[in-house]
Amino acid sequence: MIFVTIEGIDGAGKSTQARRLVSRLEDEGHDVEFFREPGGTRLSERIRTILLDSDFAIDPLPELLLFSAARAQLVEECIRPALADGKVVVCDRFYDSTTAYQGVGRGIADPDWISSLNARVAGGLRPDRTWLLSLSAEEALQRRAQRSKPLFDDLPVLPEQALRTEPDRMEQSGQAFYDRVAKAFDELATAEPDRVVRLDGALSEDDLADTIWRGARDLLAERAGA
Ligand code: TYD
Repeated sequence: MIFVTIEGIDGAGKSTQARRLVSRLEDEGHDVEFFREPGGTRLSERIRTILLDSDFAIDPLPELLLFSAARAQLVEECIRPALADGKVVVCDRFYDSTTAYQGVGRGIADPDWISSLNARVAGGLRPDRTWLLSLSAEEALQRRAQRSKPLFDDLPVLPEQALRTEPDRMEQSGQAFYDRVAKAFDELATAEPDRVVRLDGALSEDDLADTIWRGARDLLAERAGA
């Protein structure tokens, strides 16, 4: 029925907001499917593991193709059927991440080529609304560092917590890369203002959740009235 996505650089808080939107929609009685990208199908989760594994050296073009392969499978296996069933689909990242991270961050291709690849991979599916949590690369980095600290400094870190603190392969890409990605996301919001709503990622979690929920509610009302 409607397809919405949440985007932003690592540490901007989008996973928290995606989860909050899903539970709010469910509380309001909507039938919701939630996916994260890359992921959501057996194949896509397997590809995710490879993409985030810092033991792999992956060149920009194969990286782009792997993210695209994961997405193509998710669209065909899950998103399209869920929409056909009249569900609300919420996706934590979608093709805007490819434009920002691979297109601009890695700087591998001209924008027209990336956008036609994205359209093809998504089978022509376009999010009805995308909320972009905009945050500077420095701020996002600080948040990621904060997040990986143990809750209480005087308690020993459990082995699984220690594992979680390791930055993944993408997160090891450096500050200049994240600066380009953050800027690319902001440019996407300017280029497609009817779809991409830019929100200040520094706002409180509750304020952001509220704004996103109101946007989703209005979109659903519009659809119901159409
Ligand atoms: P994400 O699930 O947001 O990471 P985390 O679990 O750390 O919150 O996304 C995984 C990483 O993949 C993230 O660094 C962004 C990156 N990514 C791309 O580079 N291109 C893409 O097309 C997608 C969907 C994600």
